[in-house]
Amino acid sequence: MRTAMRSLVVAGFLAPTLLALSIAGCATGGGTSTGNSATTSDGVDTNVNTPPGAAIASAHSLSTQAGIDIINQGGNAFDAAVAVSAALSVVEPISSGIGGGGFFLLHDASSGRDIFVDARETAPESATPAEYLDKKGELDRDRAMNGPWSAGIPGLPAALVHVAERYGRLPLSTSLAPAIRIAHEGFPIYPRLEKGYASRREVMERYRGTREVFLVDGKALKSGQILKQPDLARTLELLGEQGHAGFYQGQVADQLLAAVAEEGGRWTAGELAGYRIREREPITFDYRGWKVVTAPPPSSGGVALAEMLQMLQPWKLGRLDPAERTHLIVESMRRAYRDRTIYLGDPDFVEMPIAMLTDPAYAAGLRATIHPDKATPSALLSGEPAPMEDDETTHFSIIDTDGNIVSATQTVNLLYGSGMIAPGTGVLLNNEMDDFALKPGTPNAFGVMGFDANAVAPGKRMLSSMTPTYIESADKIAVLGAPGGSRIITEVLIGILGYDAGMSAQQVAAEPRIHHQWMPDVISAEPGALDATTVKALKRMGHTVNAGEDTWGNLQTVAWDKRSDVLSGGTDPRNPVGEAKVVLDQP
Ligand code: DON
Repeated sequence: MRTAMRSLVVAGFLAPTLLALSIAGCATGGGTSTGNSATTSDGVDTNVNTPPGAAIASAHSLSTQAGIDIINQGGNAFDAAVAVSAALSVVEPISSGIGGGGFFLLHDASSGRDIFVDARETAPESATPAEYLDKKGELDRDRAMNGPWSAGIPGLPAALVHVAERYGRLPLSTSLAPAIRIAHEGFPIYPRLEKGYASRREVMERYRGTREVFLVDGKALKSGQILKQPDLARTLELLGEQGHAGFYQGQVADQLLAAVAEEGGRWTAGELAGYRIREREPITFDYRGWKVVTAPPPSSGGVALAEMLQMLQPWKLGRLDPAERTHLIVESMRRAYRDRTIYLGDPDFVEMPIAMLTDPAYAAGLRATIHPDKATPSALLSGEPAPMEDDETTHFSIIDTDGNIVSATQTVNLLYGSGMIAPGTGVLLNNEMDDFALKPGTPNAFGVMGFDANAVAPGKRMLSSMTPTYIESADKIAVLGAPGGSRIITEVLIGILGYDAGMSAQQVAAEPRIHHQWMPDVISAEPGALDATTVKALKRMGHTVNAGEDTWGNLQTVAWDKRSDVLSGGTDPRNPVGEAKVVLDQP
């Protein structure tokens, strides 16, 4: 660390001192800031091996600010991550929360270690495959997606405790304080929350606990009205005071167990008290001079990224015409998602050929099967059209002045998770059980399916697509991730390709997206991602193209350019309430 972070009030888009810069949900502008360090004639700063300050990008300005406040109180990136994560639980209940789970990819600059904190939910002991089938033996989608049976044992509270205690500098209660304050004081409902609530209303209002939080005088809150969550504030306070036991044992645990039982589910005190995060080795590989550090199973993201990027490695993508480029990227996506379906699951339960799947030689073999101008049909198993993705789940990216990094994606799965808040706790339970292959070969809400590797079993973690990642080259570090269900992995892929092509953090967040997931055998494209000529050329190659989809995703990224010593952030313009901020050390 070069100097102590000054206690700096960061207010608004242009801070008067220009020591703080932010991008708030906009596509253009310069969320960048540089330290005034001396440079040599070729622009390389020989004295600089840590960033000139800190940068945070998250999906809400209040959560970004919560992290900045903690940095300004002397916290490191890990303390800030606890603050951002908890604040997102309060201000973005549609996406994630302490009733859900997540993955935290950490880089600890003092030891040089990369650590993957797996706070994925686990299946309750009651969750046998038969519980998710209806009388005809079909997948019971209501059970899989709504209410107590859709919820796994939450993992996020355990991650907050672990990250604070093992890697932070500040007490957990200090890092949770901003979230607790926002939960008490309330925050204005924004259109995405209102719209999402309307679409999940029938389910959410089945549950007493949810009605108590989201209805005022029997009416759902509208944009601009203030949502206060005193019960959630109290639950966070107990977590801060008592750590793991504050959530997984005692009063909160009793309330969770009672709520699940009241709605016909079955959780046990033992499985709640026994929930533990896992620290895992991240997946790392090289791509064109970048070291990519990313998510291992039970995320499918890192394996798929390794396959896709290593397949793409030899091609000079920037020099190809858009149709050729898209074709090759799509073919790499198709092959990686096929392997996701067949091989991947919870490493504590299944043997997976990870070394094979991430081997450059394996990618070379797959690359050899790609025809230069013909689509490979995916038709191996029938698929269902994937529904439109909403942008639940949330990602945040942090880098601090010591060079610590946090890339974290957290979720309750679909819009407002299971819809069910446990009365008295403010805790909205996830519906992550739908990420299991509850019925082998039957697509889930994201149109992805699975077989034995991702079959449900008590205590098992469901396969995820969440792909918190950072990449490092001789010149740059970039931290990125996104929500989007099965589309997360391809969002991160496109982001990495964007950084490799020299884009800024904000350009990476704004890039138009395409996606292919093997099944269904179709290229999805955001408006503007593929022009008419490219679509025509792709169709001639045999691809099915759906170029008329709505936008998706909510990518949050920060970057540090080591040569120019510039810190920058990019927030997805598709989400107007997100914000990326940079604060510089005091000179
Ligand atoms: O872990 C997963 O892959 C999913 N539960 C993530 C869900 C998600 O991103 C929802 N957003 N569209």
